[in-house]
Amino acid sequence: MSAKPRVLVGRKLPPNVEARLRQDYDPIFNQDDVVYSKEQLLALSVDVDAIIPCHTEHMSADVIAALPDRVKAICSFSVGTDHIDLIAAKNKGLIVTNTPDVLNDATAEIAMLLMLAASRRAYEGERSIRTDTWADWTAFDGLGLQITGKRLGIVGMGRVGRVLAKRARAFDMEIHYHNRRPLSDDEAQGAIFHESLEAMLPLCDVLSIHCPSNSDSKHLINRETLALLPEHAVLVNTARGAVVDDDALIEVLQQRKIFAAGLDVFNNEPAIDPRYRELDNCFLLPHIGSATRETRDAMGFRVLDNLDAVFVGKVPQDLLT
Ligand code: DGY
Repeated sequence: MSAKPRVLVGRKLPPNVEARLRQDYDPIFNQDDVVYSKEQLLALSVDVDAIIPCHTEHMSADVIAALPDRVKAICSFSVGTDHIDLIAAKNKGLIVTNTPDVLNDATAEIAMLLMLAASRRAYEGERSIRTDTWADWTAFDGLGLQITGKRLGIVGMGRVGRVLAKRARAFDMEIHYHNRRPLSDDEAQGAIFHESLEAMLPLCDVLSIHCPSNSDSKHLINRETLALLPEHAVLVNTARGAVVDDDALIEVLQQRKIFAAGLDVFNNEPAIDPRYRELDNCFLLPHIGSATRETRDAMGFRVLDNLDAVFVGKVPQDLLT
């Protein structure tokens, strides 16, 4: 029997990360990289010491309750933790960690890309070339909105929100934010704090969501809040789909009550609400905010550093419970 801790790895991870896992642990890899059902996950957890899920594995209260006592830790390959019932984990005495910091740049890049693509109607332009329907240049086709010098509202001025603010300043954007607390002057770098989301929304040319997904933020973007945005506003979401009420967003996009949306995250991924596909004023990406080679390696190594700490009896740097 191996003396190395046995670790269930939810999905395929970058080769360098799997190599270190193979060297230091006794891993059970997911060769097919297909999301495990709840039953499969529990069956495979029978004799493991730790689990490495991605956001695709739902560590709900019933899954956590059914885990064998041998499981000590859940070290998630994600910064988001909405797939883990943290209260259930804490009650069971499980260590839970995530991967903050290392994906700030990659996610802020995707937010910037969505902001630009949605504002400049990149989807329609790209489609006209790929479908060979670009008939002629005219002074009116593809007219979008310029983001330079405009106001950017950020919901959740945490690690990613602050990097996005820095990138947006290079476009001379004026930064506003809504957060639980105002930042220090040093952190804010001139960004304007709004205690209430409702006060900030009418000022936003672009609104970008960066808050965690939890019961407080569920459907924060809904009929009432969307109605406060100006008609030329662009909504960007790289956080989690659950922050947005799909019915409300789809309705305002259909009725052109806002200009456009750029979305990287959705409710019920990958089976997203099919109405999004019909909307020209929507630029859609398949949850690739952290998908750069550099970032996925860094996320994997961060998971392993947390896991190593658990098994040498130290406090992992990204301890959540
Ligand atoms: C995260 O790390 O939370 C990203 O959304 C990928 O899972």
